[in-house]
Amino acid sequence: MRNGISFGLKAKFMLVSTLLVALTSITWGGWFYLNESEHLMERLEANGRLMLDSIQPPIIDAILYERLGVIEENAGLLDNFIEQIVENRELQVVYAFITDTHGKVLAHSDYREFGKTYRDPLTAAALTRNQFYGHTALLPSVGEIYDMAMPLQVAGKSWGALRVGVSLARVEKEKELMAREIILFSVLFFLIGNVVFYVVGLTMSRPLLTLSQAMSEVNHHSLDAVPLPAYMHRHDEIGKLQQSFSEMLERLKKAEQERQGALTRLMQNEKMATVGKLVAGVAHEINNPLMVMSTSLFHLEKKVQPELVKYISHHKEGVQRIESIVRQLTDFSRAGTLDLQRVASDQFFQEAAGFATLALKKFEVRFQSSNNADATLLLIDKGKMHQVVLNLLLNAANASPLGGLVQLLAYLEDGSYCLAVHDQGGGIAPGDKERIFELFYTTKPGGDGSGIGLAISKSIIEMHKGVITCESRPGDTTFLIRIPLQKEADHG
Ligand SMILES: Nc1ncnc2c1ncn2[C@@H]1O[C@H](COP(=O)(O)OP(=O)(O)OP(=O)(O)O)[C@@H](O)[C@H]1O
Ligand SMILES: [Mg+2]
Repeated sequence: MRNGISFGLKAKFMLVSTLLVALTSITWGGWFYLNESEHLMERLEANGRLMLDSIQPPIIDAILYERLGVIEENAGLLDNFIEQIVENRELQVVYAFITDTHGKVLAHSDYREFGKTYRDPLTAAALTRNQFYGHTALLPSVGEIYDMAMPLQVAGKSWGALRVGVSLARVEKEKELMAREIILFSVLFFLIGNVVFYVVGLTMSRPLLTLSQAMSEVNHHSLDAVPLPAYMHRHDEIGKLQQSFSEMLERLKKAEQERQGALTRLMQNEKMATVGKLVAGVAHEINNPLMVMSTSLFHLEKKVQPELVKYISHHKEGVQRIESIVRQLTDFSRAGTLDLQRVASDQFFQEAAGFATLALKKFEVRFQSSNNADATLLLIDKGKMHQVVLNLLLNAANASPLGGLVQLLAYLEDGSYCLAVHDQGGGIAPGDKERIFELFYTTKPGGDGSGIGLAISKSIIEMHKGVITCESRPGDTTFLIRIPLQKEADHG
């Protein structure tokens, strides 16, 4: 188990996206604010300059006229221009004044400044370098202003300077408004961005969660019932993940089936081995008293009164039945080893059909055999294979109705020698189908069957590396044996 805080994929995605959105909002907002502030200042400067440019020629004219004596000095003409500048509605003019070439004030918006000499750097620069100058400055009584100096110059000759200070209050107000709008917009962008990313994160993580839930429900018992979300149609990573998951489930199912099969086989083999040992011992012990009983009955039969003979024959039947079971069990105990020989398939089939005809004589059924296999050499334990075929034929005959058809067919298919035993009996109930190959499983009543035949047959066929299967429905039952055609070495 891991200690500490651990974040899910969705939380990580949300964290990164929130940071990203916040960073984008701040960067974009900051950039926009700076850019727009610069524009506002540029606009202010352009407006100021335009105003100074337009008013400069008449001011120069007025100074010239005064110098030439065309108009009276101090006639108030320059004051009119200053007034005109101060009254400008577009710019909030804080002060305006005109100086002569020595910086002496000729007209000022504040009449107390009249006659003073200005030697500040801005005025000096405008007078000496004949250039427009402007910069922001802090005026204690007003606050921030944009300070401008325009040289009054005609044909390269300077007549003084025009100085105007414009309040930045309006610009600041606009900037403040803009900042509010930007913050509002950024917050909106942040919120919408987060909502969008949340939805995207949810859309991405939900299939993963559903898949992981489906995965957590996987265990041995639920393999077939694991609910699979329908993401297979998706062509993205989620679709691929689901596909891999389904494939993994299929592999697990197959592995589980194989495991179950192997487990059943193992248990069956163990059961067989145990029973085999037990049977060998018991059979040996039973055989001796049985032989004594048979011989005694043989002698008794000749000597008892005729009315008692029927009882003797009942005894004989019982003893024969016990002998048959003991024989079968002894065979079963010896089923663990094979005596393999090369046998021509035709010869094997002929013998099997011959035994069958004899064995089925006591049944009222029709027997048919048909050999459709091309002649080949089989590597089999002939005796045990005959025993298997006989078991199947006896079962078929037992199950058949009166006059029913019992068939024995041989053919080659997919590299295997196939033997099919077919009958028209009532078939095997679906519930019994799983169990008929189990040792001692029988449906025959009253000790008619011992339930050994199919168990022995299956064991023998598997020792030949073959399979025995059964298809059954009422009136149509077929047991099929497949023995692979292979070399002697393969049997180990
Ligand atoms: N052809 C068949 N049609 C219907 N049921 C069958 C057929 N073959 C086998 N079975 C069923 O399978 C069971 C097991 O068969 P199995 O041969 O192992 O034992 P059995 O025939 O009952 O006894 P025995 O050991 O004497 O052969 C039978 O009891 C029967 O119910
Ligand atoms: Mg049988």
